[in-house]
Amino acid sequence: MSMEVRKIILVAGARPNFMKIAPLMHAIENQKTIEPILIHTGQHYDEQMSELFFKQLEIPEPHVNLEVGSASHAVQTARIMERFEKVCLEIGPAMVMVVGDVNSTIACTLVASKLGIVTAHYEAGLRSGDRSMPEEINRIVTDSICDYFFTTSKDANENLIKEGKQTDNIFLVGNLMIDTLMRLLQKATIEGLRNSEIEGLDDKYALVTLHRPSNVDHSEMLLSIMKALQKLAHHMPVIFPVHPRTRLRISDIGYRISEKQQLYLIDPIGYLEFLSLQKNATVVITDSGGIQEETTVLGIPCLTMRENTERPITVWEGTNKLVGVNDIEYEVEEILKGNGKKGKVPDLWDGKAAERIVSILIERIRW
Ligand code: UD1
Repeated sequence: MSMEVRKIILVAGARPNFMKIAPLMHAIENQKTIEPILIHTGQHYDEQMSELFFKQLEIPEPHVNLEVGSASHAVQTARIMERFEKVCLEIGPAMVMVVGDVNSTIACTLVASKLGIVTAHYEAGLRSGDRSMPEEINRIVTDSICDYFFTTSKDANENLIKEGKQTDNIFLVGNLMIDTLMRLLQKATIEGLRNSEIEGLDDKYALVTLHRPSNVDHSEMLLSIMKALQKLAHHMPVIFPVHPRTRLRISDIGYRISEKQQLYLIDPIGYLEFLSLQKNATVVITDSGGIQEETTVLGIPCLTMRENTERPITVWEGTNKLVGVNDIEYEVEEILKGNGKKGKVPDLWDGKAAERIVSILIERIRW
């Protein structure tokens, strides 16, 4: 009996999508009944934000890059929709699979579902409860029209059920980002950073990433964060790979670091370099979603500078703590005293999420 090969479009758009798409592409390419077609929307386009990740994560070249670039949310979303519709009509996939919560996620789900194509969302059901975050709107809208839901944690299943989804369409599969982390952990070394200006990588240091509008778009907030980091830099080197959006805001407020400071504002770095910095850090200070998960798996204390999180399991079970700018000093002191938050790795965050998704696609759902 010959089996028909079904085409699935996988969508990647922004940096945090790439770590989720990589294991999925690899797992789908390992079998013969589903043909994966990767579409890059071009939401992130800088070499350091995109190409480098494709290389390091060994993601195959995308079938096409929609090259939408940066713009307001409405314009960016509209551009993705317009260009993605053409691609769907050309390719005629049986399914479109999206990941995460970025503008590419919602734009492509909306297009596919209106064309009558079956849709699946990996990382469905996460909710911060905070609609001032663009990502929360993307999550809610994506899940409201999607057909199948792949989730990372039990709370996500509960959220989807509360929103009226059928349990038959929800699959708790674990965490794709952790698949990538586990595959590449051994390869992640700081050698690439040795020649940079950063000193003190062999001892205690803090690793920082910040790019959420709530932290960087308000001058006063951003300034108080920079001051807190400067203060922390008196005690240990602070390494801060700066997102392009944050770089712009820091220059808007005219902030400059005085020389001799151990506060290193560096350009965005690759996945392997960042992972190596995470695994050896004394503390990670962030507002990213993925980093809350990665630090939990690595067992590194994470201070998340947000009032809420769509990933509460990293707080309930992991090393994550939600903090305000005024808490940083105290929290870091506690960590230095050995009182940093300890945790465990959530169920199914074991490096096998992609395998589970592929076997569900092949054996358990209709498309
Ligand atoms: C996007 C995602 C966010 C994710 C983040 C990770 C949405 C709504 N937000 O936010 O969830 O956590 O990516 O990075 O989808 N820029 C560049 N080069 C690039 C990309 C962006 O210079 O390759 C600059 C542009 O000035 C742009 C700004 O960064 O205006 C913001 O980029 P954008 O993609 O709009 O949102 P992010 O803040 O990156």
